[in-house]
Amino acid sequence: MRTKIVAGNWKMNKTMEDVRAFSDEFLELAANDHADGLQTVVAPPFPFLAAMAEKKNGLRNYHIAAQNCHHEASGAYTGEVAASMIRSAGAGLVIIGHSERRQYFAETAGQLMKKTQLALENELRVIFCIGETLEQRNAGKHFEVIRTQLQEVISRLDEELLIAEKLILAYEPVWAIGTGVTASAAQAQEMHAFIRQVLCETFHATTVHGYLSILYGGSCNASNAAELFAQEDVDGGLVGGASLKAAEFAAIRRAMIAQIGAL
Ligand code: PGA
Repeated sequence: MRTKIVAGNWKMNKTMEDVRAFSDEFLELAANDHADGLQTVVAPPFPFLAAMAEKKNGLRNYHIAAQNCHHEASGAYTGEVAASMIRSAGAGLVIIGHSERRQYFAETAGQLMKKTQLALENELRVIFCIGETLEQRNAGKHFEVIRTQLQEVISRLDEELLIAEKLILAYEPVWAIGTGVTASAAQAQEMHAFIRQVLCETFHATTVHGYLSILYGGSCNASNAAELFAQEDVDGGLVGGASLKAAEFAAIRRAMIAQIGAL
């Protein structure tokens, strides 16, 4: 059965003090809620990775992720952070290809490929984000855009990485991120199923259906999580704004636990 994952992406939010408060509250709220096969991930800004990684044993299957890494291994790139540094700080995953990185930092497919390879070489699992803009959806191009984003990077990876669950996908329609407009459960399911269909052209269906977790992201919150998580091809959520509050993030995690119980 595919791993179910509830991941929080904090983006550029919180101070060290906020992080301590979140950890104390979240670990207490989540401590008694468990489900086999559930992983919980939080992606704080770089300066907080090590402190959060030190606390991760406070919860079963709790992992810390970085929000980005540089596409070169090391060197004269002032202000950048390498995959190896993230790993040595105690994080286990990295988010790559978030639409905000693609949009505001002009990240190219070539860079995303290099980042993904470096992350995997450094024993970081990758949460790779894909998603179409509203303009692309309105023009009826959303399937084509997603197909291209998959083929640029994911279809070129070794199938063994998928089998080893080193790769997680996040479908995040850009029009749903931070807007309060979530994709309907049917829209999410439709695209997640399409993603599997495209990847089945390259990889064995047993791999794509058996091992590849695909998360939904874009205004996922405690009110809509249950419906989204109930969809057959939705294996969890990549949650932005609603992951900043410990109580709401714990509630989203509980929605997944209830779903796992219902399987
Ligand atoms: P949001 O962000 O939940 O605030 O829409 C999701 C994301 O960008 O990962």
